[in-house]
Amino acid sequence: MVAVAILAAGRGTRMKSDLPKVLHSLGGRSLVERVLHSCLEIDPIRQIVIVGYQGHLVKDALQSLPGLEFVEQTQQLGTGHAVQQLLPHLEDFTGDLLVLNGDVPLLRPQTLKLLLQTHQQHQNAATILTAQVANPQGYGRVFCNGENLLTQIVEDRDCTPAQKQNRRINAGVYCFNWPQLAKVLPQLQANNDQQEYYLTDTVNYLDPVMAVDVEDSQEILGINDRKQLASAYEILQERVKDTWMAAGVTLIDPASITIDDAVQLQPDVVIEPQTHLRGKTLIGSGSRIGPGSLIENSQIGENVTVLYSVVNDSIVGAGTRIGPYAHLRGHVTVGASCRVGNFVEMKNSKMGDRTNVAHLSYLGDATLGNRVNIGAGTITANYDGVNKHPTQIGDRTKTGSNSVLVAPLTLGADVTVAAGSVVTEDVPDDCLAIGRARQVVKPGWRLKSIPDANFPPSV
Ligand code: UD1
Ligand code: CA
Repeated sequence: MVAVAILAAGRGTRMKSDLPKVLHSLGGRSLVERVLHSCLEIDPIRQIVIVGYQGHLVKDALQSLPGLEFVEQTQQLGTGHAVQQLLPHLEDFTGDLLVLNGDVPLLRPQTLKLLLQTHQQHQNAATILTAQVANPQGYGRVFCNGENLLTQIVEDRDCTPAQKQNRRINAGVYCFNWPQLAKVLPQLQANNDQQEYYLTDTVNYLDPVMAVDVEDSQEILGINDRKQLASAYEILQERVKDTWMAAGVTLIDPASITIDDAVQLQPDVVIEPQTHLRGKTLIGSGSRIGPGSLIENSQIGENVTVLYSVVNDSIVGAGTRIGPYAHLRGHVTVGASCRVGNFVEMKNSKMGDRTNVAHLSYLGDATLGNRVNIGAGTITANYDGVNKHPTQIGDRTKTGSNSVLVAPLTLGADVTVAAGSVVTEDVPDDCLAIGRARQVVKPGWRLKSIPDANFPPSV
């Protein structure tokens, strides 16, 4: 029986931020969310998040995750003090407690499984995740006897120069036999440089305590400042890109591309330079995205091209070409084999298959059928200053260049709108609509005030 506790009450002073450290975003998800995610495979019976500094913000941010309990640490007197807050909440609990710092976002689920297995196999009082690193600065140093049996953990700032030479560090991830930990927690003293109650001091009272080295020390990077946040992002990006390249995706100039880890890519996708894929995005097989594109929370079908464009919260059908310089602003559905071309902006609109809007247009709150052709410069005037209004455009309808479609408006199927029209009234199927002043041509007419070719006159 395993319960999980995440320490997320600290402010994270070294971030120099008003936002609690654990809510800082790493590749689209907060640090604490990532820590919780790494525990899922453990299948804990309880998941407790210890909150304190701006605790309501942390609670709000995690609201959508089911089954979390929150315990308040009103004063942040150290990691040991944080775990002391669990005592009244786990009175009857007799299992193991996995404790994780809320700022260790790169842990692999297998690593936690291994930690737990080792802990249970050896029936340890505590088992601590450790790593051997080239630069141990800032981390607590772990001292063991020959058999990985842990003798003490000394914080970096409390180390003697000789102790600082030890490169084995505490990852901030622990498995405790809870009844044994519960007995020793009240004994903690704050006699250290920070005058805090350190969770790491509990190992002085517990026996046996075992250290388990993580294979890939990048996993245990703790985020204390913005530089470490950037390093973590780099590590995460490398993992994500390696995974997709192994799965048959071409990345051209990977260093200039960023891909959130919730993104899904099918084989034979090509991602061109300076392209950023964010949120819950799916790109279908054979599609070529970029250069210079941003796709966020969108589904892109197969064999689509997106060139120098921005696509948010939208769906794009197979074989469609987007860009260059198109902006699908949100809630846009584009059918198959369409073209959304140069300097076209779409918002909250739908278009069927084989429909083109190729140049210089704005389509907002519009529904277009199949094989529609929107002429260059066509604009839906969807906003009257107070409310938004819809525009409907039937199959095979064509709008001439520079048409203004004043919503609410319905154009039927097979309608033609003459170039330069301002269309304010609905148009039935199979009609031509002309909404502009008729051109007048006056033969033999010349401007009277310009007498001759010597204009301007000399003085
Ligand atoms: C801690 C460990 C250190 C380890 C490192 C790994 C201690 C004393 N030290 O140091 O050995 O190498 O993590 O990254 O534990 N927190 C609370 N309440 C508090 C204080 C902190 O909830 O009163 C939370 C923070 O929000 C954070 C976590 O505990 O998520 C760790 O705190 P932090 O101050 O970052 O500890 P480190 O100095 O990094
Ligand atoms: Ca830390």
